[in-house]
Amino acid sequence: MSRILIIGAGGVGRVVTHKCAQLPEVFSDIWLASRTQSKCNQIATEIGGERVNTAQVDADNVPELVELIKRIQPVMVINVALPYQDLSIMDACLETGIHYLDTANYEPLDEAKFEYKWQWAYQDRFKDANLMALLGSGFDPGVTNVFIAYARKHHFDRIDTVDILDCNAGDHGYPFATNFNPEINIREVTANGRYYENGHWVETKPMEYSRVFDFPEIGPRKMFLLYHEEMESLTKNLPEIKRMRFWMTFGESYLKHLEVIQNLGLDGIEPVKFQGQQIVPLQFLKALLPDPASLGPRTKGKTNIGCIIKGEKDGKQVSRYIYNVSDHESCFKETNAQAVSYTTGVPAMIGAKMMLEDKWMQAGVWNMEQFDPDPFMEDLNSYGLPWKDVSCDIDVDKLPMT
Ligand SMILES: NC(=O)c1ccc[n+]([C@@H]2O[C@H](COP(=O)([O-])OP(=O)(O)OC[C@H]3O[C@@H](n4cnc5c(N)ncnc54)[C@H](OP(=O)(O)O)[C@@H]3O)[C@@H](O)[C@H]2O)c1
Repeated sequence: MSRILIIGAGGVGRVVTHKCAQLPEVFSDIWLASRTQSKCNQIATEIGGERVNTAQVDADNVPELVELIKRIQPVMVINVALPYQDLSIMDACLETGIHYLDTANYEPLDEAKFEYKWQWAYQDRFKDANLMALLGSGFDPGVTNVFIAYARKHHFDRIDTVDILDCNAGDHGYPFATNFNPEINIREVTANGRYYENGHWVETKPMEYSRVFDFPEIGPRKMFLLYHEEMESLTKNLPEIKRMRFWMTFGESYLKHLEVIQNLGLDGIEPVKFQGQQIVPLQFLKALLPDPASLGPRTKGKTNIGCIIKGEKDGKQVSRYIYNVSDHESCFKETNAQAVSYTTGVPAMIGAKMMLEDKWMQAGVWNMEQFDPDPFMEDLNSYGLPWKDVSCDIDVDKLPMT
């Protein structure tokens, strides 16, 4: 009997709830709580069969969370609200003695900075309480970490370099929209880039480096070097890695609009005074943009996210490419959400399943690459994110820039 509490009723929350509801033998009892309860109710109605109970909660408010958790008595929280709520939800889990999982690392509201340090600082408290916190159980971070752990286990004695390639070739028909929370998305792509080389982080200007990669089942797309949070834990937990980079594709229209948004200062996170009120430009922009949850029915095309991993096995050079391709329309047919939410929500469900089935359950605060990747990889194939693992002689540095 495993009662779970899912917090956050956005695109990812919808997918997690659908996928957990499909597995009553693991998730016998499901609660979905969010800031706006009507969004939870809509998801519960969609799923039907009285599988999902709903509640309202402000996840920034620890006493409110504690009261809800005490009333519901779940065994764990799946946190798919925003990264700003990570610490308050972890505090509430510690206070009530339940396990924790999320898909994105904590960020302070007033500073665009993703780092694990705030959440890693909970290590002793979770260990002492005999509770587990699984961090970053989405696709990237999440599945990408597991792909690398799987490659290390099955193909390599030593990994030298990793390039993580994230392509969303979905077309929603809008000139500009973001596929997940616009605040998080725009803060991520307008930040300086950073990659890891020989024990150091090398900073780049936003979008300074690009390459064109021919993505399987999609075709050639221009991708840009960005910083991404999984690199922090992977380079710590696999210190043999000499270089790690993360690349993400962006279309021409997206880039054109982003440039204008930046030039106008609409990506700002400092409040400005407007007609007697303080408003945060990026939050105002979010109010004008299409709700990512509304993109599902309009989005066509595919995503391809994977890792090119190079290193050595038995004294020979080895190079592997492990990736998943997802189709926006198929994801929508199954869960009423497009592939970016789907590829995050399915791994969140699988991460929770790994914990509840005792395959990964261990007291403390953990990242995905710290566990046996095999059962997770098997479940990706079973629950909607099949992957390919192929030999690959591509050298990302030799790819064309345009
Ligand atoms: N690892 C990955 O691969 C990956 C990829 C994409 C996204 N993510 C992460 O997944 C999470 C969810 O993304 P999403 O696209 O589903 O975002 P979203 O559509 O904006 O949904 C966020 C949900 O959280 C709720 N929420 C926000 N603040 C809250 C609060 N204080 N208390 C209670 N609920 C609150 C929102 O409520 P309202 O409806 O009232 O606004 C909304 O329902 C984010 O943390 C994102 O960074 C991870």
